[in-house]
Amino acid sequence: MSNIIKLLPDAVANQIAAGEVIQRPASAIKELLENAVDSGADDITLVMKEAGKTLLQVNDNGCGMSALDARMSFERHATSKITKADDLFSIHTLGFRGEALASIAAIAQIELKTRPKEDELGTCLTIEGSKLTGQEPCPCKEGTSLSVKNLFFNVPARRNFLKSNTTETRHSIEEFVRVALINPSINFSMFHNGKLVYKLQKGSFKKRIVDLFGKVYDERLLPVDQETELIAINGFIGKAEFAKKTRGEQYFFVNRRFIKHPYLNHAVTSAFNELLPTDAFPSYFLHIEINPADIDINIHPTKTEVNFKDAKYVYSVVHASVRESIGKYNLTPTLDFDIDPSLTTAFHTRPKEDLQAPAITVNPDYNPFENIKTGEKSFATAGFKKGPASGDPNWENLYRNFENKAGATVTQPTEKENLFALESEYKEEQNEYRFFQIHRRFIACNIRSGVMIIDQQKAHERILFEAYLKKLSGQQQASQQQLFPREIHFSPTDLELLKTLQPELTRLGFLLEGNENSVSIKGIPADLTDMDIAGTLEAIVEDAKNALAEPGKEKNIRLAYTLSVQMAVKAGKTLAEAEMADLFDRLFACKVPETAPDGKKIVGIVSLSDLEEFLK
Ligand SMILES: Nc1ncnc2c1ncn2[C@@H]1O[C@H](COP(=O)(O)OP(=O)(O)OP(=O)(O)O)[C@@H](O)[C@H]1O
Ligand SMILES: [Mg+2]
Repeated sequence: MSNIIKLLPDAVANQIAAGEVIQRPASAIKELLENAVDSGADDITLVMKEAGKTLLQVNDNGCGMSALDARMSFERHATSKITKADDLFSIHTLGFRGEALASIAAIAQIELKTRPKEDELGTCLTIEGSKLTGQEPCPCKEGTSLSVKNLFFNVPARRNFLKSNTTETRHSIEEFVRVALINPSINFSMFHNGKLVYKLQKGSFKKRIVDLFGKVYDERLLPVDQETELIAINGFIGKAEFAKKTRGEQYFFVNRRFIKHPYLNHAVTSAFNELLPTDAFPSYFLHIEINPADIDINIHPTKTEVNFKDAKYVYSVVHASVRESIGKYNLTPTLDFDIDPSLTTAFHTRPKEDLQAPAITVNPDYNPFENIKTGEKSFATAGFKKGPASGDPNWENLYRNFENKAGATVTQPTEKENLFALESEYKEEQNEYRFFQIHRRFIACNIRSGVMIIDQQKAHERILFEAYLKKLSGQQQASQQQLFPREIHFSPTDLELLKTLQPELTRLGFLLEGNENSVSIKGIPADLTDMDIAGTLEAIVEDAKNALAEPGKEKNIRLAYTLSVQMAVKAGKTLAEAEMADLFDRLFACKVPETAPDGKKIVGIVSLSDLEEFLK
């Protein structure tokens, strides 16, 4: 047989290779912007026409290239960024493979103008489908300007695969945003079809986020800042209350490179846990700095994936940092007192020394269910005694860490403290002010700065949720033995699901015995009535089914959530004043009193000035 294997001509090989790196205008934009960042520029402009299909151009004021380098830069595997294999373990640039320009040049018409600072004349070079069509010295600005015209002009099949201009523009903008986000010390502008789309001035990371996503983000972000021996993580997460139904602004950067990492995404979202509704996605903008030797970025042609040497460790640091940030800062902004100087109540005019540090006083032995009269789901009026102990130990630790980290006592009261100050404010004035119910849905209470409104159902859900979670993580709870065990019918698959939850259910006080097509209820939690049992178990099974469809939330959290929603006092239930006071006390003894387990707001304040404004 004659020999049939032949080397492909360079231009064809390049075209094939280009397919991996350049799929659409957005991929070329990414490569050009990354080259511009690597060039040390502090001013970068992207110009696009027709979603980048006919023109995309990146101008930078970086280091520029000599005439020889300008020519070399389009050769495959020609790079100034690494010289030997070992360098792969210490990559500090975005590029390193020397492939991008060769790939782009294989499938487009290129015009490059470049001049290093020290040279008087620059180089102008044109290439078409990998072929050099012109090179000459020319006067040009310091830095580099690279135009890519008619992408895929010689690969009609690829060109036909491009989506509508709207879709391609969206992809292109997304690439621009990713690079611009993590390089806030660089000015960026973007023009599309002659119109300015973005003009971003250098500044802080937060400023860059706000400039890109809108002013509202100024209020929505919580800082994340953590350094361990191996990694540093900083950036921002969006407050839970602003989480979106669509996977929106979720950005991970590793060593200033945007990456997609489902595992780390889970680290963040699970840190939000019960604060988020099941179908909502939090926003985050997080930057991880790590020794390049501890990651492998060379696993995907577009360099948007990374392998960590110790992914579990990175996961745990990300998770803990986000959790700490939520714990430290995540409180409803409306609970922040903007003290109006015109309000000169005794509290305001009192000399500073007299001010008592607000304290949390919660009885740790308190069982929230002692108060619930079996059968009625109503709040008992007595039984909640305040003791000297503090709230949840985990929360306190988080908070303490924060203080230690700051290295000094916190002089400005945090929002959390404000919240407790709010509670003490209420206590101070409780002789004078009363709770009253609005339309059997909301509880209103006078506070110094206005009126506080609490959603009764949501508040009770939060109280029960935390109580159930505590039960689930502790010992088996007291169960009320049923004299005549009741049978509830379930399909075999539902029964299987129920069985997988048996340990948790037992811990909550359910004593269940599975038969062929039913369970017999031998015991139920002390605070649940016989009446509720079927509906509650059905809701638990239903939720377990949903959990299979969209895993992510921990079992205990789902269970506690389902039960709390089932058991909470509903809107429409009349509450006695003492019951309202009890609910208030128990709500503010919760870890997260301002947000319901589904992420909805529980507490809001209508300020006096709001009321004045309303009545103007
Ligand atoms: N805007 C620019 N300013 C200065 N030099 C540039 C610029 N763009 C490219 N270069 C030079 O051209 C070389 C080739 O660029 P190219 O993007 O093809 O490869 P790379 O960036 O080294 O690696 P990768 O393929 O991973 O992007 C770079 O190493 C750099 O020296
Ligand atoms: Mg590059």
